[in-house]
Formats: sequence, C-alpha cells, structure tokens
Amino acid sequence: MTKTENEKKRLRDAAESGVGPITEEGEMPQKKFYRSRAHCNPLSHNNTFDYPIHPAEMDWGTHYPAIENPKPTVLDIGCGFGGLTIALATLLPKHLILGLEIRAKVTEYVRLRILAHRKENPGKYENASVLRSNTMKLMPHFFEKGSLEKIFFCFPDPHFKKKNHPRRIISDRLLSEYAYFLKPGQGKLYCITDVEDLHNWHVKHCRAHPLFRELSKDEMDKDSCVKAMYSETEEGKKVERAGTNKYYAVFERIESGTEDAKKITGENFFSQGQFGIE
Ligand SMILES: C[S@@+](CC[C@H](N)C(=O)[O-])C[C@H]1O[C@@H](n2cnc3c(N)ncnc32)[C@H](O)[C@@H]1O
Repeated sequence: MTKTENEKKRLRDAAESGVGPITEEGEMPQKKFYRSRAHCNPLSHNNTFDYPIHPAEMDWGTHYPAIENPKPTVLDIGCGFGGLTIALATLLPKHLILGLEIRAKVTEYVRLRILAHRKENPGKYENASVLRSNTMKLMPHFFEKGSLEKIFFCFPDPHFKKKNHPRRIISDRLLSEYAYFLKPGQGKLYCITDVEDLHNWHVKHCRAHPLFRELSKDEMDKDSCVKAMYSETEEGKKVERAGTNKYYAVFERIESGTEDAKKITGENFFSQGQFGIE
C-alpha cells in the first residue's frame, strides 16, 4: 500500500469504527472523519433514538444553554453537515434554529461544528443546535401545535423507485403533520432539490394540501431565507459545482378557520385516499 492509500485506509477505519478520531469540544471537526452511509431507511424500526413522551417534557436548555426558556422555531430537516443550520443562526438571530438529522455521526459533526463556532465567536451561534432524530416518526414528541415558524427541506433523499416513495419526507400525511406544527397564517415550508421529478412531487403534494398556499415568485424573491436555502447547504454547493439546476418552492400555512382549513377533520385525516393515507 502506498502512503496515500494507507492514510485513506486509516481514515476509513476510524470513521467506520464510529469512535475516532475524536474532536475535542470547541475544536472545528473535520468532515472526513464524520462521513457515513449516504442513505438509511427512515421507515425501518429503530429504537436508538431518545425522545420525550410529550413536547412539554423536552429539555431544550442543554441545546441552547445561553438562552432563557428556549424552544426552537425554525427547523432544518435532514440538515446533513449543517451548512444551512449555521447560516440561519446569523440570518435569523431572534429565532432558535434546530438541525434535525437521522445519521449519528453526521449529527455529531454538526454539534461539534456549532460548539466550535460558538467558541470562535463569543455570543454568536447560541441560537443554533442539532438533534439526532427520525423526523418521519418522532416530530410530535418534540414540537407543539402552531409552535414553528419555518421548516426547511433541502435536497432531501429522492427515493427514486416507486416502491420507495413512502420514504419521501414530503407526503400527504406528513404535510398534515407539518401544517399542525406551523403557525397558522405565518409558518412557512421551504423545499429545494436538484431532482426535477422530486420537485414536481413536492409541488403537487403541497398544492393539493388544503392547509398550504404557494408563495409567488415575487414573494420568494423578497425572502432572504430562500437565498440561504439556495446557496448555503453542502448539497446545494455540490450542485453548483456540477453546474446543474436547483428547483425550489415555498408554501405558507394558511389561517385556521378558513373553508380550506375545515376540509381536514379528525374523521377524514386517517381515511383511505384522504390526507392521512395514500
Ligand atoms: C441529501 S442529504 C441533504 C443534507 C442537507 N440538507 C444539504 O442540503 O446539504 C439528506 C439528509 O437527510 C437526512 N435524513 C433522511 N431521512 C431523515 C429523517 N427521516 N429524519 C432526519 N434526517 C433524515 C439524511 O441522513 C441526509 O443527511
């Protein structure tokens, strides 16, 4: 083995072992030590996640120790290596940003990255944190009704095969959950992808959902979060380097009590062909 191959093997072994090399808290972690399998099945049973029985029992204090009575209001779902989570912390200093990520090693990388930013920039990045979770199953354990202002879905896994479409992170049933968590008349759902078919899927499902209204191009152009979602994620940067397209859309959670909002009821939410079950 050449010297480079040896080094590559050492890094691969270290990464695969899941234990090292360890980054000290406060040091900037190196991404190469925290890579892990690109895809995982969000529908498979996995009991390695910690979660409270009820959102009221969640202790966000450990995530945002410098902030009094913290509760996240902006989610970066499937945050990957955390580029957008970090960017939103400075773009939205009055909000608490939470990256959610299913892969343990990647989550640890983002946690260390945030701690390093806090150390390098005293008083900043205190409003950013990351949590390892499977959002397709566990969001109701963490978030209360109407408590969220923004939810981002950036370059979600496309799950190309039809049989894997139930693994997609935007679906009729999950949109009803997202609508439940977002502030009526105010909360926004952002989605971006480089896969045109997946974008069409996002738009089709969001447009069909009675609790969402699509933002016009003009409205999106005025929103600085759209710019951030376009340029700040690691996947977005890869797409830029490859010179291929990015497709995006933003939807607002409509006011409660409108005729459209009344279309979803306790009875039809779980009915076949309705908003609960496809
Ligand atoms: C293609 S990456 C995009 C990462 C990041 N948003 C970006 O644009 O750079 C999709 C990410 O979503 C995460 N993910 C997939 N399913 C998830 C789930 N059910 N809950 C939380 N994270 C999930 C994956 O582990 C992966 O890091």
